[in-house]
This record gives sequence, C-alpha cells and structure tokens, in this order.
Amino acid sequence: MRIVLAEPEKGGLAATWSDGTTSFWPAIWLRDQCACPQCRHPSGQRLFEIVDLPEQPQIERIAMQTDGNLRVTWKGEEHVSTYLAAFLYEHNLKTPPAAPIRLWGADLADLPEGDWPAVARDPESELRWLESYHKHGFGLLRNVPVRPGMVAEVGDRLGFVRTTNYGKLFDVISVPDPNNLANTALGLGVHSDNPYRDPTPGVQLLHCLVSDAPGGDSLLVDGFAGAEQLRQWAPEQFELLTRVPANFRFADKDADLQTRTPLISVDFEGRLTAVHFNNRSFAGIDVPVELVEPWYEAYRNFAQILKQPERELIFRLAPGDLLVMQNERALHGRTAFDANLGRRHLQGCYVDKDGLESRMRVLRRQVAKAQAAAQ
Ligand SMILES: [Fe+2]
Ligand SMILES: [Zn+2]
Repeated sequence: MRIVLAEPEKGGLAATWSDGTTSFWPAIWLRDQCACPQCRHPSGQRLFEIVDLPEQPQIERIAMQTDGNLRVTWKGEEHVSTYLAAFLYEHNLKTPPAAPIRLWGADLADLPEGDWPAVARDPESELRWLESYHKHGFGLLRNVPVRPGMVAEVGDRLGFVRTTNYGKLFDVISVPDPNNLANTALGLGVHSDNPYRDPTPGVQLLHCLVSDAPGGDSLLVDGFAGAEQLRQWAPEQFELLTRVPANFRFADKDADLQTRTPLISVDFEGRLTAVHFNNRSFAGIDVPVELVEPWYEAYRNFAQILKQPERELIFRLAPGDLLVMQNERALHGRTAFDANLGRRHLQGCYVDKDGLESRMRVLRRQVAKAQAAAQ
C-alpha cells in the first residue's frame, strides 16, 4: 500500500493510502518510534527514555520521499525522523496486528502435519509446518526417530525445553501406584496440562514410542472454538469465566504447586489468549459467595461444550508420531487402554510458546532472504 497524501493535522500526522483509507498517528507515538541513529542503537534498541522526549512533540514539516517513505521534521528540536510506509501501514492504529487462527472440530480433515526429517533439514518445510501449527494450535510430526529422549531433542530444536519437577522430560506409561492419573490406563478427559504452574506450560510435546495396547486413542479439542461457542451462547457466562479465577493444585511428597487463574483469558481486544481446563487438578474457587453458583453454572456449560462429540478430533498416535500442542488452546485427552493386552508409552516435555513464535519469524526472514537471492 502506498501513501498518496500526508499532512500534519492537529496533534499528529494524517495520511491517505492508495486504497482511499486514512490513518492518523499522534505526534508522541511517531516521535517515540523514530529510528534515527540518535534514537536507536544499531541493535534496534532505544537509546532514550520516555522522559527524554518533549511532552508534546510538534511536527514542523512532512515530506514524502521518492521511495514513498515519510520524513518528519520536528519543531523546537534538531531532529528529523524517517518512517517507512510499510511500517506505518503495519501499525495503522486501527486493526490490531493479529495472527490468523483457524478454529476446528472433529471434522478437521487436513491435519497440520509434517515429516520430521524434512522439517529438520529444510527451512521452508519447517516454516510451513510452524505456520500450520500456529494456525491450528497444534501440529503433528511424523517419522520422528523412535528413541527415548528424542522428544526433548525436538523440543530444543523448536524452542527451549522447560525443566519442571517432572524433569526435562516425562514418561506417560501405566505404572503401579502413580502420583498422576496420566500414569494409569484410565481414559482422560480433555485438559490443558499443569495449569497449576505459573506460567502454565505454553507448549506440550508428546512423542509416541510404543502403542500396541488396545485403546489409548488420542483426543484433541479446540479450546478456543469451545470458548467462542460459550461466548455466543451465553456471553455473561463467558465473561464470568474470564474474570473469576479458579484454583489449580498439584501436590505430592516433593511439590505443592498452586495457581489461581481464570478458565478463559482474553486480551485487550477481547480475543482469546488462553484456556485453562483441567478437571483433575482443579481445586475449587475462593471468591465472594454470590459468584459461586453463577460461576459453577458457567463452568458446567463450558465443560459440556468441550464434551460435544463434534469437537473431538480422535486419532491414534503410532510410534514415531510426535504431537506438538499449544497447551492453553488445544486440549488433549485419551481413551482408556488395556494395559494387560499391550503397552503404551509416550514421552513428553514442555516448551515455551514464544520460542516457537520466534523460530517462525526467524525462518520467515531466512526464507524471504533465500528467495530474494534466488531471483
Ligand atoms: Fe496431559
Ligand atoms: Zn530520532
């Protein structure tokens, strides 16, 4: 998009784009975004503090350059700033920058999957897989070597594995006298892992090593799609679940982890940022008494929505499959299995969400550069 007209307007800069739309940037926003060598270190980091800027910067002159970018001369300071049209378009102060996401249900036909050897070798394949993972809140990697510990290698490749009281990685396998229902043969309703941690793990990886017991299919439910359904059906219940915090707890002989967090989190624009849902570690609510019954009604409704069969994506992990999930969006569970007739062994680990986002941006830069060089 090109700027066709730019002029000072009261308190800032007004521009008209080639598609006829207009934008306005307050002077303080522009002055703070100055990218000149006096304002920014070559690393891109700011060299000034907010208190160093004039309280009410004044624009003296705006000049459109031949390349379509804008030059702003400031009044009362010896200072000239240049703003790239693309930067101004990206930050038009109207539509918040948003990552496109796709809500899904049981009928999701094209699973976001990738072939690990290709993803590990080729930046373009890795980028395609990461973009699909971000859109859906989960992704499958096939043909990951069936080797204990591999899950942490993949985790460290995509981001940084977060060590917890379960260690760098953990085994999901049925054992006698477990401290966690995950380590039984029981079915597990869909949940986010470890909402009792602060922060809750952003990403969970689960790598299938053995799967020859009858049952033990994987379930995935899009927690964001469920939350949107609740918002549509009962906006006041949705709002209650974003506002009233729930307690989550895990305790064994070595740990006592507790948090207080709402079941649904939204950002400033009301867009979903997280769902925390875990029946096993839910530890009740401690809130003013008049909120208790309405909250439980909302909780029950939300749980019922998440149980709708049309939301449940069911598939079977085979040895070498590795599932990567945004833990606060893609809720996971499993059907019961018969541990007397076969074995089921998964290994898992946690990675922070920002690591995979960073990886995707870096790959975008690399791929764009390679494409430019090839032309
Ligand atoms: Fe889990
Ligand atoms: Zn500057």
